[in-house]
Formats: sequence, C-alpha cells, structure tokens
Amino acid sequence: MSEVNSQARIGLIGLGVMGANLSLNIAEKGFPVAVFNRTGSVTDDFVASAGELRDKLVPAKTYEDLVAALTTPRAVIIMVQAGGPVDAVIDALTPLLDEGDMIIDAGNADFHDSRRREAALRAKGLNFIGMGVSGGEEGARHGPSIMVGGNPASYETIRDIIEAISAKHDGDPCAAHFGPDGAGHFVKTVHNGIEYADMQMIAEIYGLLRDGAHKAPAEIGALFECWDKGPLKSYLVEISAKVLQAIDPGTGKPMVDVIVDRAGQKGTGRWTAIEALTLGQSPSTIEAAVAARSWSSAKDARLAGADIFGSEPVSGLTLPTEPDFESALLVAKLVAYDQGFKLLKAASDHYDWGLDLARAAEVWREGCIIRSALLDDMASAIRSGLPQEQLIFSADFVALVKNGLPALRRVVGYASASGLPVPALSNALAYFDTMRQARGTTDLIQAQRDFFGAHGFERTDGGAGHHGPWGSGAL
Ligand SMILES: NC(=O)c1ccc[n+]([C@@H]2O[C@H](COP(=O)([O-])OP(=O)(O)OC[C@H]3O[C@@H](n4cnc5c(N)ncnc54)[C@H](OP(=O)(O)O)[C@@H]3O)[C@@H](O)[C@H]2O)c1
Repeated sequence: MSEVNSQARIGLIGLGVMGANLSLNIAEKGFPVAVFNRTGSVTDDFVASAGELRDKLVPAKTYEDLVAALTTPRAVIIMVQAGGPVDAVIDALTPLLDEGDMIIDAGNADFHDSRRREAALRAKGLNFIGMGVSGGEEGARHGPSIMVGGNPASYETIRDIIEAISAKHDGDPCAAHFGPDGAGHFVKTVHNGIEYADMQMIAEIYGLLRDGAHKAPAEIGALFECWDKGPLKSYLVEISAKVLQAIDPGTGKPMVDVIVDRAGQKGTGRWTAIEALTLGQSPSTIEAAVAARSWSSAKDARLAGADIFGSEPVSGLTLPTEPDFESALLVAKLVAYDQGFKLLKAASDHYDWGLDLARAAEVWREGCIIRSALLDDMASAIRSGLPQEQLIFSADFVALVKNGLPALRRVVGYASASGLPVPALSNALAYFDTMRQARGTTDLIQAQRDFFGAHGFERTDGGAGHHGPWGSGAL
C-alpha cells in the first residue's frame, strides 16, 4: 500500500461524467474527498484539471489507497454504471472496510439491487446507502436533487455533506432520506418515469405544431420560451425551447432536423412501468412514453408504414389554439405526476417504507430534470391531504384541471382526427375520464370472466361470489 494521509471524510469511486462533477461539488463545499477511478490515468487527468479545488482532492491509485485516505467510520460513494460494475466495486471494497463503514451507491440502481446489497452488507456489519442523484452533469457539479435510502443513522453521519452539495429551493436542501434500503433509488426511478412522460408530452406537442400547424422548429422553440414564463415553467420546457432554436453549425439547418428520431428505453423508465405493473398500478402516461421510445426505434418499419399508408396528416381540420396546446400540456403533465405519486404510495405501502410524498415533490423542486413551478404547489397539495390519493382531485388543482380539460380534449381530438400520434397525451385524457366515471364498463368484463371461467362477481345489490344465468353456455 502506498503512503496516503488519512484526511478525507468521504471517498468517491468512478470519475466518469457524474463522479467527476460530484467530486468537484463536494470539494467546492469544503469537504476533502478521496477519489479513485479504475483507469488510473483518468484520476491523474481529473486531479490535474481541478484548478483551485485540487487541494481538496486526495487521489488514490488503488482501492487500498482510497480506504487508507479516509477517516473512520469510512464513507465511500460509488458512481459507476448500474448493475455489474457496482457489484464489482463493492466486492473489491468490502474486504478492505471495517464494521460500521458505509458504501453509498449514487448511480441509477435498480432498487431491488439496492435492497439486496443493503441486506448483504448489513450481514457483514457494513452500512449501505442507495442514493438517487438527478440533474445530469450540471446538477452533479452545482447542486443535484438527491433521494436517499438506507439506515437513517448512517445517513446522519454524511447528511451535512449531502445537503451541502444538493440544490436548494429557497434555502431548503433538495436532498432527503426517504426510507430504508431501496427507498431512495425507487423515488429516483419514479422521478425518471415522470421525466419520460414529461419529455414525451412536450415532444407530442412539438409534433402537432410541426406537422399539423407547419411551424418551423425556431417558432415552436420561441413559443416554448413564452410558456416557460408561465405555469409550465420547467427545466424540460426551457431546454426544449433552446434545443428547437439551435442551428446545426455544419449544415445551417435546425439542429433538431438533423437528429435521427429514434430512442432506446432500456433503463429507469422501463423499470418504473415494470414495477408499477408488479404493484398493481398502471401509470399509463409513463407506460405510453416508454412505448413511444420503443416504437421510435423501429425506424425501418415506420418508413415502410409511411410508404404503404402515407404519413401526411389529414388536412382542413381546425387546429387547436396556442393557449389550447399550453393548457393541454399543463393538465396532462399533472396527470403524469398524479400517476407517479400514486405509484410511490403503492410501493411505500407494499414495502412499508413510510415515504413522505410531499417531501419527494419538495426535493424535485430544484436540481433535477423534472424541476418545475408546479412542484411547489404539488408539495403543498400533498401536505394538506389528497382526496382518494389523487393529485388531480386536490382542491388546489381542480380549477386547473377543469380549465385545462377542454383544451386537452381539443388537442387529443385534433391529433386523432388528423392522424398524428399523441400516446401520452391521449393516455392522460383516458385516465382522467376513467377516474371521473361513476359507472365504468368493467361490469361486462366481470360477466365475461364469469361466463368463460366461472370466476364469480359482486352484485350491485350486495354480496360477492355470484354467478350469471349463462349455465351450460359457459365453457
Ligand atoms: N450522466 C448522467 O446524466 C446521469 C445522471 C444521473 C445518474 N446517472 C448515473 O450515474 C452513474 C454513472 O454515470 P456516468 O454518466 O457518470 O457514467 P460514465 O461517464 O460512463 O462513467 C462510468 C464510470 O464507471 C467506471 N467503471 C465502469 N465499470 C467499472 C468497474 N467494473 N469497476 C470500476 N469502475 C468502473 C468507469 O471507469 P473507467 O474510466 O475505468 O472506465 C467510469 O469512471 C450511472 O449509474 C448513471 O446511470 C447518470
């Protein structure tokens, strides 16, 4: 083991995009941080380019050096790719640590992995914190939103560092402990699911303005810029406005026009949908956003479909107004959050986490990708209690929903009649209409089930386990 002074309260492994920026953030807040990267030259280059923060960085060439550079009890942040790499780092680190030391996984982990790792490390006398970090490169450097899960007592020992590096909303740190083991990573996963829905809805409105209203990207960008000054004020609307007004230096064309319309959906958005279904939930706007990315990847099939059926929208229809598009987006976005919070509540009940949903809304107000003006109102609505756990039923939002719904109908109606796809917006509308339906159509579903499978049904005049008069017609 080489000679390294024990001088850092915290260590960080993985100096990629997120790890490098998070290390600089920690150092800038005055906490010396020991840093290690598997490829040693990355550590050297990182420290060499750290400028005046260099003095707060303690570079380590080996895991042993890193561990030796930390004061006890040790706390080590892992910021490497989720999955196997995290396990590889934990396996390398664990034999070098002492009872009471702490490993913090700050990547986008599957919360099931965090639960497994927490249990395995606890059995060895080590503490494990699963910490979701949102805000991308910029957030990591200057203040991300941070969602923590794990033993609360061990979190307390690093809370000052985590709160110092987090974003702030009116001085309130956008960092919180949400519950044991995988709770923090689950909150981060649902954050990302909502992010998928939010991005998809913005993209759908862009599509209608582009292909229906025949607006140029810069015009749409300018409109989004205006919306970013109103109730839709949010990071995603802000960056969409900038993206749409950007020009490709090589061709002089709008940047968005030279980007292939194809995306993957391998990560947290898909996990949100899978986990929701496992918990008996269906956040349809998030599912639609995952589906839309998946469909987008079938570019060749879409080109073939365009050849066979044509992709020109039906012309001559009355276009919704710009305020219609704005209101539709606002109300649909609220539905996405409604579904996300319902999912958080379902997981909290299932895993007995005691998640503070209002705190989740508060932690998302700054630093993260879904930060928006609406979140402050959502936090106070949740704090005052949601009727039937539905954000859209909250007295704080009923007027917004009532005002925005006609616009959402006009937008989805226009899209449907003209042949332009709006899977997330239309799912938001279908969900809303379902949740206000005093009598649904599942009576027929139950009758069908009883007919072919003798599953029985509940009668409106009382009692479960009844069967219909289909008799020998049943299979
Ligand atoms: N980028 C974002 O905007 C963002 C936002 C939020 C969360 N995240 C999450 O943060 C985590 C890190 O993302 P990133 O974008 O910073 O990744 P990245 O830039 O690709 O860096 C990955 C790091 O992991 C290290 N690594 C990979 N496999 C390893 C192994 N087996 N053992 C030790 N080190 C290993 C790499 O070391 P080498 O240099 O040796 O390859 C590198 O330092 C991921 O979970 C990601 O999902 C990313």
